[in-house]
Amino acid sequence: MKRPWYETIFDERYPELFGPLEQDPEEEVAQIVGLIPIPPGAAVADLGCGRGRHAIPLSRRGYRVTGVDLSEKMLRLARERAVREGAAVEWVREDMREFVRPAAFDVFLSLFSSFGYFGDVENQKVLDNVGRSLKRGGALLLDLRNARKGLAGEDGMETTVTVPTGRLCMRVRMDHATGRARAEHELVRPDGIRISSAFDVRIYSEADLDRMIVTAGMRVVAVHGSLDGAPFHVGAERMVVVAKKG
Ligand SMILES: C[S@@+](CC[C@H](N)C(=O)[O-])C[C@H]1O[C@@H](n2cnc3c(N)ncnc32)[C@H](O)[C@@H]1O
Repeated sequence: MKRPWYETIFDERYPELFGPLEQDPEEEVAQIVGLIPIPPGAAVADLGCGRGRHAIPLSRRGYRVTGVDLSEKMLRLARERAVREGAAVEWVREDMREFVRPAAFDVFLSLFSSFGYFGDVENQKVLDNVGRSLKRGGALLLDLRNARKGLAGEDGMETTVTVPTGRLCMRVRMDHATGRARAEHELVRPDGIRISSAFDVRIYSEADLDRMIVTAGMRVVAVHGSLDGAPFHVGAERMVVVAKKG
């Protein structure tokens, strides 16, 4: 049986194909702790932590960080960097649909569109797991693509940008029937070699997420248009949802 895309694309090609879209993670961590004040020494879980871009700087701030990811390749990059930098992070290779530690965490983070990969029932299960794993008073921050921006588009968008490793073409198409965005990234290196990757993410509206978060035993306390706390609006790039338990 063909493996789902989220089990195959997060490999050594990922930094080249998606890195150009990433912002400075140190700055993002500073923004995150501004949006959700995290008590000193708090237990923080980074769900879909990838190569530890945020988990490592968070651990340097004195938090007890657990990075959860399904990709051994991404976790290997994370572990290697943590060893190089002397950062103490607990790395867990587990599927976010299964990861549950009852009332163990003060904060859950899901950064750079790491939520919405599955069907609705399983996406809800991810939030249910977060609801169970948060302590009372704990917080969840979801950093997602802005649904309304995508859904307002007609047939999707295509952009090509020059990046340090070549020309990167990004195509996004919204499937209005399923509410899913399918994106393809293709990099053409200066020597003509092409590498590409495609992903397919369920795009939820604020109302959808509000309902799903309540079902998971939390409530939405703020929605921002960016990690810097800018107000959310129809054309915002991101939808940053902050929720609390209890
Ligand atoms: C878009 S990347 C973002 C990584 C990281 N948050 C960052 O900002 O660099 C999504 C991550 O989710 C992980 N992932 C995909 N499916 C997963 C699953 N079922 N359970 C846990 N992690 C998963 C991928 O391996 C990948 O590292």
